[in-house]
Amino acid sequence: MSTPEIDLVVYPDECDAFGHLNQASFLSLFERARWEMLRGGPGMDVFTRSGAWPALRKTVIDYRAAAFPGDVLRFQQVLTHHGRTSFTMRQTARRVQDDTLIASAEFVFVCIDRDGRPIPVPQEFSEYMNARRDSPGNVQRITVHGVNLAVEERGEGPAVLFVHGYPLDRTIWREQIGALEGFRCIAIDLRGMGQSDSPDLGYSMATYATDLAALLDVLGVDDVVLCGLSMGGYVAFEFLRQWRSRVRGLVLMDSRADADAPEVRRARDAAAATARERGAGAIADAMLPKMLAPATLSRRPDVAERVRALMASTPVSGIVGALAAMRDREESESLLPTLAGVPTLVVVGEADTLTPPAQARAMAAAIPGARLAVIPGAGHLPPVEQPEATTASLREFLTSLG
Ligand code: MLT
Repeated sequence: MSTPEIDLVVYPDECDAFGHLNQASFLSLFERARWEMLRGGPGMDVFTRSGAWPALRKTVIDYRAAAFPGDVLRFQQVLTHHGRTSFTMRQTARRVQDDTLIASAEFVFVCIDRDGRPIPVPQEFSEYMNARRDSPGNVQRITVHGVNLAVEERGEGPAVLFVHGYPLDRTIWREQIGALEGFRCIAIDLRGMGQSDSPDLGYSMATYATDLAALLDVLGVDDVVLCGLSMGGYVAFEFLRQWRSRVRGLVLMDSRADADAPEVRRARDAAAATARERGAGAIADAMLPKMLAPATLSRRPDVAERVRALMASTPVSGIVGALAAMRDREESESLLPTLAGVPTLVVVGEADTLTPPAQARAMAAAIPGARLAVIPGAGHLPPVEQPEATTASLREFLTSLG
């Protein structure tokens, strides 16, 4: 189920002498978007029906860019906290025409009765909002750049953003985000994979990275430890190029910094043709032996089936898009020595043949101060094949960041 989006037009009477949308009108547009959202859902009278009123207790607004008469702003609302009598809603306003983030805001409400006493948040409202937030596994649906992404969040504390590889989805981090207490773990399905939309629009590392930045805006997260597996690492490099100040720490797991060699680029195109002609199942069959350590493949059919099913359910447009994005990505080897101020952990499965330990070791050596963790008994997917050891090495690193 998608998070409701509301489009509102900026009128001339809402703007100041220089034509910018003024502060008071910003507030009322955010409020109008909330009521419009309720009008399309449980009804504008969802509070009064239960004798409750959502009294605003706190507002924090971040003004990012100016808006002008005639601009259409797209408002998105996400419930970020739900208590017994209070709730917090985060809203963002983006200009539809160019997708610029105009403002983001956080509103804390307390439900009160006629005498001003706090009373429970009406159940109907909670159910409506939570249906958008807590679909199975705490999955939220958040739209950025017109594409609806599946995002799973667990825990509270410093934010860690988990980015999966190809052709996978956020569930590869299931064990880690369930176990890393003391951190706000955010795992997303990149566009084209998992439960996210899969537009046929052309994909690039920049597109994925821009999605991540917009998503963090919606979630109200300023900076993160960025943890990318394989292609997720390529996305992390692109994110670093554009938003380095938002990266508090970096985990590169079973990834690589070089660009594709000509024969690899040709193999990407051949794989895209296979996906188009024979579907995702053919890609899954070809990838599975490369994804897992021989011991995982031979002795743990449940893990092999989980990974195969994951790959086989990836939309073909997402597979084709990711292959093109990987084929065309720029090299990141020259970025590595510049990462001196970014605490980095390089992780690799001891039996990874796609991005072998020797390559991980060289990558760690090229990043000033980076640490290396080799996970025994894992191939290309340590978080799935050796979840406890992977979580332990992540926990140690994250805790060391203070
Ligand atoms: C991945 O796991 O994301 C891919 O193996 C990366 C690649 O093919 O370069």
